[in-house]
Amino acid sequence: MSDIQQAVRKKYGALAASVTKASTNTGCCATAACGCGDPITSNLYSDAETKELPADAVAASLGCGNPTALIALEPGQTVLDLGSGGGIDVLLSAKRVGASGKAYGLDMTDEMLALARENQRKAGATNVEFLKGTIESIPLPDNSVDVIISNCVINLSNDKDAVLREAFRVLKPGGRFAVSDVVVRGAVPANVRRSMELWVGCIAGALEEKEYASKLQTAGFKDVEVEAWRVYNVEDARSFLTDSGLDVDAVAPHLQGLFASSFIRATKPTAESCCGPTCCA
Ligand SMILES: C[S@@+](CC[C@H](N)C(=O)[O-])C[C@H]1O[C@@H](n2cnc3c(N)ncnc32)[C@H](O)[C@@H]1O
Repeated sequence: MSDIQQAVRKKYGALAASVTKASTNTGCCATAACGCGDPITSNLYSDAETKELPADAVAASLGCGNPTALIALEPGQTVLDLGSGGGIDVLLSAKRVGASGKAYGLDMTDEMLALARENQRKAGATNVEFLKGTIESIPLPDNSVDVIISNCVINLSNDKDAVLREAFRVLKPGGRFAVSDVVVRGAVPANVRRSMELWVGCIAGALEEKEYASKLQTAGFKDVEVEAWRVYNVEDARSFLTDSGLDVDAVAPHLQGLFASSFIRATKPTAESCCGPTCCA
């Protein structure tokens, strides 16, 4: 496991533990994981969606979008959530694909998996399975998944090409990739890139939007779209950047409008539209 993966696992293990602890204490807003007032993680889901879920699944939401709102899911489909955390998007997907479908969550952090499995139990979801593993080496067979979702996780990976290659491999021909991720919209100052703390927090590890599209195409995807939907301003990020030891007033002018939560969509070609010797193998 790389240093970055270890740092990411430590951070999310602690956040999972804080949700579990808060649920037996004072409730959501006592934890850093809850996103109360946080411009990245707040207001991502409708009340209709959250009221159907266990409170701890909602409290553990650490995403930066709502990938399940990005894509039509049909009864009977198989969905895979890369970096499923406390399981919010897996449980929402499970309702949409119904009893004849299946929703997998994949995460490398034991504490998050334990929290997600407990949330599955509370939700009574029988068409859900949480898998332990990394998104760079997905523990599922080739051509086995209809839809891949992910919520603010690919920006944490230090091998994004491997993630996209693996996503392509496990998707069925015609399968869809529908992801929320933090994306950079221009050049990032070197001191931001260098900060491990920012990397863990979804900033320094984010791809530039054209690079994201290009990597998806290299992995074999077609119909690639990267659409910014929530552009962060520096004030949104002030405490986050300060906690990372940066002089916010000094870097602020270089960061304005550069980071956005984006919807990223792409499709694995079907055999008929495949133009490469191995792309649909
Ligand atoms: C920002 S949280 C997002 C969780 C969830 N998607 C959500 O919206 O609440 C990142 C999650 O991805 C997991 N994660 C990060 N990097 C990973 C990797 N390389 N492989 C598997 N899981 C990873 C972490 O353990 C954590 O649960």
